[in-house]
Amino acid sequence: MNVVIAGGHGKIALRLARVLSAGGVQVTGLIRNPDHADDVRRAGARPEVCDLEHASVEEVAALLEGADAAVFAAGAGPGSGAARKDTVDRAASALLADAAERAGVRRFLQISSMGAGRPPRPGTDEAWAAYVRAKGEAEDDLRARDLDWVIVRPGLLTDDPGTGLVTLAEPDVGRGEVTRDDVAAVLAALLDASGVNRRTLDLVGGTTPIEEAVAALTA
Ligand SMILES: NC(=O)c1ccc[n+]([C@@H]2O[C@H](COP(=O)([O-])OP(=O)(O)OC[C@H]3O[C@@H](n4cnc5c(N)ncnc54)[C@H](OP(=O)(O)O)[C@@H]3O)[C@@H](O)[C@H]2O)c1
Repeated sequence: MNVVIAGGHGKIALRLARVLSAGGVQVTGLIRNPDHADDVRRAGARPEVCDLEHASVEEVAALLEGADAAVFAAGAGPGSGAARKDTVDRAASALLADAAERAGVRRFLQISSMGAGRPPRPGTDEAWAAYVRAKGEAEDDLRARDLDWVIVRPGLLTDDPGTGLVTLAEPDVGRGEVTRDDVAAVLAALLDASGVNRRTLDLVGGTTPIEEAVAALTA
C-alpha cells in the first residue's frame, strides 16, 4: 500500500507514518517546511515539499499519482488566526480532495474535530469559531464528493502514550480526550478497512480495542 499524508510533519501524521511504515506501507509526507524533511524520513516516510496554501491541484495530484489513499492531517494550529483556519483547515482539505479525484485516489481519510460545524455560542473566540466553521465546511466538501471517504473527529488530543482503547462511533459520543497515538492507530486500521466508507466518526479514549471498534463499524 502507498499512502500520502498531507501535513506530514504534524504530530498525528508522524505517528501515523511510523505505524504504517513499520507495517510495510510506503508513506509520503507532504510538508511545507523543508527543514522538517529529516523528521519525516526518521518516521519512515518520504518527504515531499508541498505548501497546501500555495500549491495547484495539478501539483498535488502529481504527488498523489499511484497512491492508494490520501490522509488529510494538516491544520493551521493553535497559534493561527481565523484566516488560516480557512486556508488550511478548509481549503487545503478541499485541494487534497480535488487532487485525489484527479489522480484517481479514492480512499480519503480526513482528520476533523469533534463538534465541527456546530454553530458557535455567543461570545466564542473568533479564531475558535473560524476553526469550527472551517472544519465543518471541509467535512461538507468531502461528503459531497464521489470518494471513499471517512471523517474522523477526535476529541481533545493529548500526547500521552496510546492505550489502544477507544470509543469510535457516529456523533455524538460526548466530549473526551484521545491520545494522538490512538488517533494514528485508528487511522491505520481504517486504511485497512475498506468496508468502512462514507462515515463520520467521533473518536475519544474508551474501552474498546481499536481493531474491534473498527470491525464493529462493518458488522
Ligand atoms: N488539538 C486538539 O485537541 C485537536 C482536536 C481535534 C482535532 N484536531 C485536529 O487534528 C489535526 C491534526 O492534529 P495534530 O496535533 O497532529 O496537528 P499539528 O501537529 O499542528 O500538525 C498540523 C500540520 O499541518 C501542517 N500545515 C499547516 N499549514 C500547512 C500548509 N499550508 N501546507 C502543508 N502543511 C501545513 C503543519 O506544518 P507546519 O509545522 O509547517 O506548520 C503541521 O505539521 C489538526 O487538523 C487539528 O486541527 C486537534
